[in-house]
Amino acid sequence: MTASNPMNILQQVRETALSQRDPNSRYCTLATLEQQAPLQVRTRTLVVRDVSSEACLLFVNRSAQKNLGDLPDASVEVLFFYPTLMAQFRLRGSLSLMSASALEPHWQHKPYEAKLLDHFYQDYQPQSATLESRDALEQGISELKKRYPDPDSVPFTENALGLLITADYLEVWQGMDSGIHDRRLFTRADAVWKAQALVP
Ligand SMILES: Cc1cc2nc3c(=O)[nH]c(=O)nc-3n(C[C@H](O)[C@H](O)[C@H](O)COP(=O)(O)O)c2cc1C
Repeated sequence: MTASNPMNILQQVRETALSQRDPNSRYCTLATLEQQAPLQVRTRTLVVRDVSSEACLLFVNRSAQKNLGDLPDASVEVLFFYPTLMAQFRLRGSLSLMSASALEPHWQHKPYEAKLLDHFYQDYQPQSATLESRDALEQGISELKKRYPDPDSVPFTENALGLLITADYLEVWQGMDSGIHDRRLFTRADAVWKAQALVP
Protein backbone atom coordinates (compact mmCIF):
# COMPACT_ATOMS: atom_id res chain seq x y z
CA MET A 1 0.00 0.00 0.00
CA THR A 2 1.45 3.42 -0.88
CA ALA A 3 1.98 5.70 2.11
CA SER A 4 2.86 9.28 2.95
CA ASN A 5 6.43 10.01 4.00
CA PRO A 6 7.08 8.12 7.29
CA MET A 7 10.10 10.34 8.06
CA ASN A 8 7.48 12.86 9.20
CA ILE A 9 6.46 10.41 11.94
CA LEU A 10 10.08 10.13 13.10
CA GLN A 11 10.47 13.92 13.00
CA GLN A 12 7.30 14.49 15.03
CA VAL A 13 8.00 11.80 17.62
CA ARG A 14 11.60 13.05 18.02
CA GLU A 15 10.35 16.64 18.50
CA THR A 16 7.94 15.41 21.20
CA ALA A 17 10.75 13.41 22.84
CA LEU A 18 13.01 16.50 22.80
CA SER A 19 10.30 18.72 24.28
CA GLN A 20 9.58 16.13 26.99
CA ARG A 21 13.31 15.75 27.72
CA ASP A 22 13.24 12.04 26.98
CA PRO A 23 16.70 10.79 28.07
CA ASN A 24 17.32 9.32 24.60
CA SER A 25 15.91 12.23 22.63
CA ARG A 26 19.32 13.50 21.47
CA TYR A 27 20.83 10.10 20.67
CA CYS A 28 20.65 7.10 18.40
CA THR A 29 22.52 3.81 18.01
CA LEU A 30 24.44 3.26 14.78
CA ALA A 31 25.15 -0.36 13.82
CA THR A 32 27.76 -1.24 11.21
CA LEU A 33 29.48 -4.42 10.09
CA GLU A 34 33.22 -4.93 10.49
CA GLN A 35 34.83 -5.03 7.07
CA GLN A 36 37.10 -7.97 7.87
CA ALA A 37 36.28 -11.52 8.91
CA PRO A 38 34.94 -12.65 11.28
CA LEU A 39 31.68 -10.95 10.39
CA GLN A 40 31.10 -8.85 13.50
CA VAL A 41 28.46 -6.23 14.19
CA ARG A 42 29.60 -3.05 15.97
CA THR A 43 27.17 -0.60 17.59
CA ARG A 44 27.69 2.77 19.25
CA THR A 45 25.69 5.70 20.64
CA LEU A 46 25.86 8.89 18.56
CA VAL A 47 24.29 12.33 18.86
CA VAL A 48 21.56 12.86 16.25
CA ARG A 49 22.39 16.20 14.66
CA ASP A 50 19.29 16.50 12.46
CA VAL A 51 16.35 14.55 11.09
CA SER A 52 14.85 15.93 7.87
CA SER A 53 12.02 14.57 5.75
CA GLU A 54 14.63 12.54 3.86
CA ALA A 55 17.64 11.80 6.00
CA CYS A 56 19.24 11.77 9.39
CA LEU A 57 22.56 13.53 10.01
CA LEU A 58 25.28 12.19 12.31
CA PHE A 59 28.77 13.50 13.03
CA VAL A 60 31.56 10.93 12.93
CA ASN A 61 35.31 11.06 12.42
CA ARG A 62 37.18 9.74 9.39
CA SER A 63 39.79 8.21 11.68
CA ALA A 64 37.29 6.03 13.61
CA GLN A 65 36.34 2.39 13.25
CA LYS A 66 32.84 2.94 11.96
CA ASN A 67 33.58 0.69 8.95
CA LEU A 68 31.50 2.72 6.60
CA GLY A 69 32.93 0.83 3.63
CA ASP A 70 31.82 1.89 0.18
CA LEU A 71 29.38 4.77 0.17
CA PRO A 72 26.50 4.92 -0.73
CA ASP A 73 26.01 1.16 -0.30
CA ALA A 74 27.59 0.57 3.11
CA SER A 75 25.40 -1.53 5.36
CA VAL A 76 24.22 0.45 8.38
CA GLU A 77 21.17 0.65 10.62
CA VAL A 78 20.24 3.51 12.93
CA LEU A 79 18.10 2.80 15.98
CA PHE A 80 16.08 5.45 17.79
CA PHE A 81 14.31 4.47 21.03
CA TYR A 82 12.33 6.98 23.08
CA PRO A 83 11.43 5.28 26.38
CA THR A 84 9.06 7.98 27.62
CA LEU A 85 6.99 7.50 24.46
CA MET A 86 7.65 3.77 24.06
CA ALA A 87 8.50 4.37 20.41
CA GLN A 88 11.24 2.72 18.38
CA PHE A 89 12.44 3.44 14.84
CA ARG A 90 14.87 1.39 12.76
CA LEU A 91 16.21 3.32 9.81
CA ARG A 92 18.28 2.10 6.85
CA GLY A 93 19.28 3.87 3.67
CA SER A 94 22.02 5.09 1.41
CA LEU A 95 25.00 6.93 2.82
CA SER A 96 26.54 10.18 1.70
CA LEU A 97 28.79 12.80 3.23
CA MET A 98 27.85 16.41 3.73
CA SER A 99 30.15 18.75 1.85
CA ALA A 100 32.86 20.28 4.04
CA SER A 101 31.46 23.76 3.35
CA ALA A 102 27.97 22.72 4.55
CA LEU A 103 29.39 20.85 7.55
CA GLU A 104 31.67 23.57 8.89
CA PRO A 105 28.93 25.87 10.33
CA HIS A 106 27.30 22.84 12.06
CA TRP A 107 30.72 21.71 13.34
CA GLN A 108 31.38 25.14 14.84
CA HIS A 109 28.39 24.57 17.16
CA LYS A 110 30.03 21.52 18.70
CA PRO A 111 31.27 21.93 22.29
CA TYR A 112 34.87 23.18 22.62
CA GLU A 113 36.15 19.81 23.88
CA ALA A 114 34.52 17.92 21.00
CA LYS A 115 36.27 20.22 18.51
CA LEU A 116 39.59 19.69 20.32
CA LEU A 117 39.04 15.93 20.14
CA ASP A 118 38.71 16.13 16.35
CA HIS A 119 42.12 17.87 16.37
CA PHE A 120 43.49 15.20 18.70
CA TYR A 121 42.38 12.48 16.23
CA GLN A 122 44.10 14.37 13.44
CA ASP A 123 47.36 15.40 15.12
CA TYR A 124 47.91 12.78 17.84
CA GLN A 125 46.01 9.50 17.58
CA PRO A 126 42.95 8.34 15.64
CA GLN A 127 39.64 7.81 17.43
CA SER A 128 39.44 4.31 18.97
CA ALA A 129 43.26 3.83 18.89
CA THR A 130 44.93 2.41 22.03
CA LEU A 131 46.16 5.11 24.44
CA GLU A 132 49.41 4.61 26.30
CA SER A 133 47.73 6.25 29.29
CA ARG A 134 44.93 8.67 30.16
CA ASP A 135 47.72 11.23 30.79
CA ALA A 136 48.75 11.05 27.11
CA LEU A 137 45.23 12.15 26.13
CA GLU A 138 45.07 14.93 28.73
CA GLN A 139 48.53 16.18 27.76
CA GLY A 140 47.47 16.37 24.08
CA ILE A 141 44.22 18.17 24.93
CA SER A 142 46.01 20.71 27.11
CA GLU A 143 48.49 21.38 24.28
CA LEU A 144 45.56 21.87 21.90
CA LYS A 145 43.89 24.25 24.39
CA LYS A 146 47.04 26.38 24.34
CA ARG A 147 47.13 26.28 20.53
CA TYR A 148 43.40 27.12 20.23
CA PRO A 149 42.47 29.08 23.39
CA ASP A 150 39.30 30.62 21.95
CA PRO A 151 36.43 28.07 21.71
CA ASP A 152 34.82 30.09 18.92
CA SER A 153 37.83 30.11 16.62
CA VAL A 154 39.00 26.51 16.63
CA PRO A 155 39.72 25.74 12.96
CA PHE A 156 37.57 23.11 11.21
CA THR A 157 39.25 19.74 10.74
CA GLU A 158 38.96 17.85 7.47
CA ASN A 159 38.60 14.53 9.32
CA ALA A 160 35.21 15.61 10.72
CA LEU A 161 32.47 13.96 8.69
CA GLY A 162 28.76 14.74 8.42
CA LEU A 163 27.16 11.40 7.61
CA LEU A 164 23.76 11.57 5.92
CA ILE A 165 21.63 8.44 5.86
CA THR A 166 18.90 8.94 3.29
CA ALA A 167 16.12 6.62 4.37
CA ASP A 168 14.63 3.94 2.16
CA TYR A 169 13.55 1.70 5.06
CA LEU A 170 11.89 2.78 8.28
CA GLU A 171 10.34 0.42 10.77
CA VAL A 172 8.12 2.02 13.40
CA TRP A 173 7.26 0.24 16.66
CA GLN A 174 4.77 1.95 18.91
CA GLY A 175 3.99 0.60 22.35
CA MET A 176 0.26 0.32 23.12
CA ASP A 177 -1.36 0.25 26.55
CA SER A 178 -3.14 -2.95 25.54
CA GLY A 179 0.23 -4.71 25.27
CA ILE A 180 -0.56 -5.56 21.65
CA HIS A 181 1.93 -3.14 20.16
CA ASP A 182 1.79 -1.55 16.71
CA ARG A 183 4.50 -2.26 14.17
CA ARG A 184 4.71 -0.89 10.65
CA LEU A 185 7.38 -1.17 7.98
CA PHE A 186 7.80 1.58 5.39
CA THR A 187 10.01 1.00 2.35
CA ARG A 188 10.81 3.47 -0.39
CA ALA A 189 11.44 2.72 -4.06
CA ASP A 190 12.25 5.86 -6.08
CA ALA A 191 10.05 8.53 -4.53
CA VAL A 192 7.24 6.23 -3.44
CA TRP A 193 6.89 4.95 0.12
CA LYS A 194 4.96 1.74 0.73
CA ALA A 195 3.63 0.59 4.11
CA GLN A 196 2.93 -2.83 5.57
CA ALA A 197 1.80 -3.84 9.05
CA LEU A 198 4.04 -6.34 10.84
CA VAL A 199 3.29 -8.82 13.58
CA PRO A 200 4.56 -7.00 16.68
C1 LIG B 1 25.97 9.86 24.73
C2 LIG B 1 27.03 9.57 23.69
C3 LIG B 1 27.09 10.37 22.55
C4 LIG B 1 28.08 10.13 21.59
N1 LIG B 1 28.09 10.88 20.44
C5 LIG B 1 29.01 10.63 19.50
C6 LIG B 1 28.97 11.34 18.25
O1 LIG B 1 28.08 12.16 17.97
N2 LIG B 1 29.93 11.05 17.33
C7 LIG B 1 30.90 10.12 17.57
O2 LIG B 1 31.75 9.92 16.68
N3 LIG B 1 30.96 9.41 18.71
C8 LIG B 1 30.03 9.64 19.69
N4 LIG B 1 30.05 8.92 20.85
C9 LIG B 1 31.09 7.89 21.03
C10 LIG B 1 30.67 6.61 20.28
O3 LIG B 1 29.65 5.92 20.97
C11 LIG B 1 31.87 5.64 20.05
O4 LIG B 1 32.42 5.27 21.29
C12 LIG B 1 32.94 6.29 19.18
O5 LIG B 1 32.36 6.99 18.09
C13 LIG B 1 33.91 5.24 18.63
O6 LIG B 1 33.20 4.31 17.85
P1 LIG B 1 33.95 3.32 16.82
O7 LIG B 1 35.19 2.79 17.53
O8 LIG B 1 32.97 2.22 16.55
O9 LIG B 1 34.28 4.13 15.61
C14 LIG B 1 29.05 9.10 21.80
C15 LIG B 1 28.96 8.29 22.94
C16 LIG B 1 27.95 8.51 23.85
C17 LIG B 1 27.85 7.58 25.05
